Amino acid sequence: MASKFYITTPIYYANAKPHIGNTYTTVAADVLARYHRLLKDKTFFLTGTDEHGIKVETAAKKQGKDPQKFCDEKADCFKNAWDSLNISYDAFIRTSDPKHVKAVQKALDYLYKKGFIYKGAYEGLYCSGCEQYKTESDLIDGKCPDHQKKPEKMKEESYLFKLSAFEKELIKKIEKDEFKIEPKERKNEVLGFLKKGLQDISISRQKVKWGIPLPFDKNLTAYVWVDALLNYLTGIKWKGDSKKFPELWPADVHLMSKDILRIHATIWPALLMALDIPLPKKLFIHGYFTIDGQKMSKSIGNVIWPEELVNKFGVDASRYLLLSACPFGRDGDISWNKLIEKYNSDLANGIGNLTSRVLTMAEKKLSGKINVISKDKPKSLDKLLDNYDRLFNNLQFEEIIKGLMDICLELDRKIDQEEIYRMEKDEFSKNIYYFVETLRIWAWLAKPFMPGASDKILKQLGDSGKEFKKAIKWGGIKKGNKVKKEKLLFPRIT
Ligand code: MSP
Repeated sequence: MASKFYITTPIYYANAKPHIGNTYTTVAADVLARYHRLLKDKTFFLTGTDEHGIKVETAAKKQGKDPQKFCDEKADCFKNAWDSLNISYDAFIRTSDPKHVKAVQKALDYLYKKGFIYKGAYEGLYCSGCEQYKTESDLIDGKCPDHQKKPEKMKEESYLFKLSAFEKELIKKIEKDEFKIEPKERKNEVLGFLKKGLQDISISRQKVKWGIPLPFDKNLTAYVWVDALLNYLTGIKWKGDSKKFPELWPADVHLMSKDILRIHATIWPALLMALDIPLPKKLFIHGYFTIDGQKMSKSIGNVIWPEELVNKFGVDASRYLLLSACPFGRDGDISWNKLIEKYNSDLANGIGNLTSRVLTMAEKKLSGKINVISKDKPKSLDKLLDNYDRLFNNLQFEEIIKGLMDICLELDRKIDQEEIYRMEKDEFSKNIYYFVETLRIWAWLAKPFMPGASDKILKQLGDSGKEFKKAIKWGGIKKGNKVKKEKLLFPRIT
C-alpha cells in the first residue's frame, strides 16, 4: 500500500560550492526519493543551504561581499549542481528565507517561555569549522580532527538550552528504536556518548551578526545549528508552533554522514521533545569519502567537483558511479582511475554493450520484430526482484547495483555460451525474448539510479509503461512489438 515518504539531506553550508561529498548524500537521497515515487508513495525530498553563522559570515567577508548576496550566489551553485545531476528535490530550503527565520523565532520564544532556555554564561573551545563547542577529549594534539585547527577559547554571556533534561528519555527512545539510528554501529556510538551524560548547550551568539536575532534578546543571534536543524520542519511549511506539525512529519529518513551524527542524535531530538513534536523515524549515517587515500581538501588540491564528474561521465553514469563506490554506511575511497575503470566495466562493456549487442541481433535477424513470447528468464533477475524492496529499505544501494550487474553478466554469458548470434531465424525468434524482456525489467529496476539511461533503454524496447509494479512483471513485451537500436548508451572512456 502506498504511504508517505519524507527524506532530507543535510542543508549544506553556503560558504563554498558543492563537492563530491555533498553530491554523494544528495544523489543517494534522490535515488531513494525516486524509488518511493515509483511505488506511488506520497514522497517529499528536501535539501537546501545552511546560510547563517560565523563560517559563512567569514567566507563572505573574505570576498568583500554582503552575506545575503554571497549566500544567494552559493545557493545558486548548489541548485545548478543538483540540476546537472538530475536531482528531483521537492523543495530547496534556505535558512535566510524570512519564513524560516520567523518560524525559528517563534519556536525559540516558546522554548524560552516554557523555561527550556535560560540565561547563563558559557565558556568553551569553539571550532568554527564544525560550528560547535568541543571538549578536550574531542581534540587530537589540541586540534579539531576534522578541521586540523585549534579551536578558539570563547566566553560569552549566553542563553542555554536544557539539553541535559532530555538525556534519559532520549536513551530510551534510541534503545527501543522509536528513534532509529542506522547502521547499528552508529546507534551504539550514540548510546555510548549519551551515557556519559549530556550538558546544557549555549544556543546564542554574541559576536555573530549574520544569524537569526533571538526574539527575547535581539542583541544576540541564535546558534546556527538550532537555526539549521529546524529546516527539516520549516522546509515543509512549519510555522514554528509547538505540538502542530505538517502532515509530512515525521521525516522518514534524515540522511547524513558521521561528521554531524552527534548533533542530530542529541540537540535535534531534544529540541523536538521540548516542542512536543514527534522525533524523526530514522537517521541513516553513510560513510565518508577519501580521495586516493587522502582526506578531500582544497589545500591538497584533490577535491572532485560534481561538474567534473558530469563532464567526464555524463549524468546517469556519475550517479551510478557514486553509489557503487562503496557500501552505503561504510567509508570508501575513490579516485579518477577507479571511477574510469568501473565506468568501462559496468556501463560501457556492461549494460551499454549488452543492450547494443541484443538489439543489433534482433534488428539483423528479425528486423526488430519480436514474434515469440517465452517464459524462460535469468535466475539473477528473480533474485534481484525478490530482494529489491528489502535492499532499498535497508539503503543497500551497492547491493542493488551488484544485482543489476549480475543480470548483465548472466545475459552476456548466455549469448556467448549458446552462440545466440549464430542461430537461424526461427530458433533465434524463440530465444531473443529472454534478452529483450530482461533488459526491459532491468531498465525499470535501474530507474531510480539512472533515470535518463533507463528511459533510453525502454524507448529502444518500445516500452511505454507507467506503473512500476506492473512494469516489473515478466511479459511486458507483447508478440509483434518492435525493438529499435539507437545510439550507444555509454561510450568507452580512457
Ligand atoms: N550545515 C551542516 C548541516 C546542517 S543540517 C541541519 C553541515 N554542512 S556541510 O556542508 O558540512 O555538509 C556535511 C555533509 O556533507 C555530511 O554529513 C555528508 O552528508 C556530506 N559530506 C561532506 N563531505 C563528505 C565526504 N568527504 N564524504 C561523504 N559525505 C560527505 O554539516
